[in-house]
Amino acid sequence: MNFTPITMNTTGENKTVKYYVRSWRKEEKTIGFVPTMGALHEGHLDLVRKARETCDKVVVSIFVNPLQFNNPTDLEKYPRNLESDVEMLVKENVDLIYAPLPMEFYPTPPNVSLDFGKVSSVLEGEMRPGHFSGVGIVVARLFHIVEPHKAFFGAKDLQQVAVIRNLINDLGFDIELVRCPTKRETSGLALSSRNKRLSESGKKTAAEIFAGLQLAMAGLEEFGFEEAKKLARQHLEKYPEIKTEYLEWVNPENMEILSSTSQQKNPAICIAAWVEGIRLIDNLLSEN
Ligand code: PAF
Repeated sequence: MNFTPITMNTTGENKTVKYYVRSWRKEEKTIGFVPTMGALHEGHLDLVRKARETCDKVVVSIFVNPLQFNNPTDLEKYPRNLESDVEMLVKENVDLIYAPLPMEFYPTPPNVSLDFGKVSSVLEGEMRPGHFSGVGIVVARLFHIVEPHKAFFGAKDLQQVAVIRNLINDLGFDIELVRCPTKRETSGLALSSRNKRLSESGKKTAAEIFAGLQLAMAGLEEFGFEEAKKLARQHLEKYPEIKTEYLEWVNPENMEILSSTSQQKNPAICIAAWVEGIRLIDNLLSEN
């Protein structure tokens, strides 16, 4: 196919998406899916390219999911730029872009809520009540519509990946979850749609978040979880513009918080921090 069908902001588009994906499945084509909330950057494009490399067809969704925002201002200020998103995706040769209207995606407000247990009760789950329920509902609905063989998620949202793994296993989706490494600016700042709201100097300061994580990871073997975490904290404290919300070592598979007595071969260190009123998250995996 040498054009990208774009189904956006029209009624009945779920049916259009289903029509395409079902015809591809009949032809035994593999379908790779990249769910996004738009405001695309190189991190998203990297997921799209990974999908392109390993699947016959690539579907990208663009939908700012109101259910996963516990803060109305955050939802309102979330960057949106559908036109340039579509332009970027057409250049990547994706096979289908699905950008539904909220009214169509949720014809009636969902009554269900999802509880992922321990994996979602800490870090983001603790700070943003209801967030992972909203993520789970939107991703499950998208999976039903797109019926992908593989779904691609960025490791920057490490806890989200763990939640989606549970969603797939617990609800029996026959989908392979692919976790892709975090893409970063040369400064180390993790790419995020939220970075668009930072000033140039804010971006420079925010890069120190990753520097802190690197210090902790470098010190882990010698000093252990608690002392290594202190190394990161000491670094971050040099930048009063960075307000750390949490900084924790976790088991990246189930998000169990690790302390001095824990045994974990491949831990990750996770952070949420505020810079210029923007909430940023990042993490560093020991296996990367
Ligand atoms: O990671 C995101 O952008 C969102 O949480 C997702 C997976 C697209 C669900 O809205």
